[in-house]
Amino acid sequence: MHGFFVGSIQVDPPILLAPMEDVTSASFRLITKRIAKPGLMFTEFVSAMAIHHNARKTIKKMIVHEGERPIGIQIFGSDVDTMVEAANLSVEMGADIVDINMGCWVPKVCKTGAGAALLKDPKAAERIVSAVVRSVSVPVTVKVRAGWHYDLYTAPDLARRFEQAGAKMLTLHARFAKQGFDGNANWKLIEDLRKAISIPLAGNGDVRTPNDALRMFRETGCDGVMVGRTAIGNPWALRAITEAVCGLPASSPPSLDERVSTALEHARLAIDLERQNAIDNKLDAELVAMRSLRGILPLYIKGEPGAAEIRNCITKTERFDELERVLKSYVTDRQLRSIPA
Ligand SMILES: Cc1cc2nc3c(=O)[nH]c(=O)nc-3n(C[C@H](O)[C@H](O)[C@H](O)COP(=O)(O)O)c2cc1C
Repeated sequence: MHGFFVGSIQVDPPILLAPMEDVTSASFRLITKRIAKPGLMFTEFVSAMAIHHNARKTIKKMIVHEGERPIGIQIFGSDVDTMVEAANLSVEMGADIVDINMGCWVPKVCKTGAGAALLKDPKAAERIVSAVVRSVSVPVTVKVRAGWHYDLYTAPDLARRFEQAGAKMLTLHARFAKQGFDGNANWKLIEDLRKAISIPLAGNGDVRTPNDALRMFRETGCDGVMVGRTAIGNPWALRAITEAVCGLPASSPPSLDERVSTALEHARLAIDLERQNAIDNKLDAELVAMRSLRGILPLYIKGEPGAAEIRNCITKTERFDELERVLKSYVTDRQLRSIPA
C-alpha cells in the first residue's frame, strides 16, 4: 500500500493514529511513533473556546515535538472566529496539519453546536472549514461521522462542500453520531464517501488487526486507515498493522518484559513532560502524570495471565517507583510460575 499526500504533507505509511481525548498525549504519541511508526498522528481534540479564553491546560495539549512529525492538531468549536484563532495558534505551536472535529457526539460538546452537531448544519460547518482554510498556511482536514442519525446521512454532501472549501483530507468514522460506539462501523459508508470526493479519505472504525486494515483498503478504496482504540497500551498492534500495510515481515510480538518496560517508559516520559510543561509549579507533576495514565497503563499487560488481578493496583498507583515495584514483582511472579517444579 502506498502513502499519500495531505496537501504538501506526505503520509507514509498510510496508517493514521486517531485523535483520542485523554489518551493521545505527547508521551503516548512519542511511544507510538517509536514503536509503530504510523504515517500521521493527531493530538486529542482541543476546544477553540478554551483557547480563546487562554486556558493554559488546553494550550499545553497543543505542544508538539519534532519526533512526532507529521502531526495534526485537532480543534473543535462552533464559532468561526474562535476556530480561526485556534487554527492559527495550532500552526504557531507547530502543527503540520489542522484537523477540525465534526465527529464527537458527547453532549458536553454537541450542546455548544460543535463536534458532530455540525453534521446537522452543513452551512455552518462549511463556513468554519472555509474560514479556517483561508486563515492558515498548513493543510486543513476534517474528521466526520456519517451523519447525526440514520435518517440524516449528511456526510457525502458535507464532504463535497469541504472539498470545495479547500480541505485536503477527510476522515470518516463509519458510524452515525447517535450510535456513539454501538454496533459495528459500517465500512460501506467509507466506500460511498470515497466515490463522492477527490481529496484523500481516511477510513476509521473497528480496525483491530492487520487483516482488518488490508480489508478496509481493499473494500472501500480509502487512501489511509485510521486506528484508535486498538493502539491504546498496545503500540505493537499498530506496528503489526503498519508492517502488513507496507508489506514488511511481521516483527515478533512483544515479550512480557518489553510490555512492562514500555509501560514504565511511557510513565517516565509523561512525568518528565509534565515537569517541563507544568502550568502550576505548586502541582505535583508526578501525581498529575500518573493520574492521567490511569486508564492506559493496565492495558500494556492486558490479556497476560494474572493481569486482571493487578489491574486495580496499577490504576491506583500514583508514584513511578510504586508502579515499577508492582510491575516488576508481577514479572518475577510470572517467571517463577513458569519454572517447572
Ligand atoms: C477514549 C477516546 C477518546 C476519543 N477522543 C476523540 C477526539 O478527541 N477526537 C476525535 O475526533 N475522535 C475521538 N475519538 C474517536 C476516535 O478518534 C475514533 O474515531 C474511534 O475510536 C473509532 O476508531 P477505532 O474503532 O479505531 O477506535 C475518541 C475515541 C476514544 C475511544
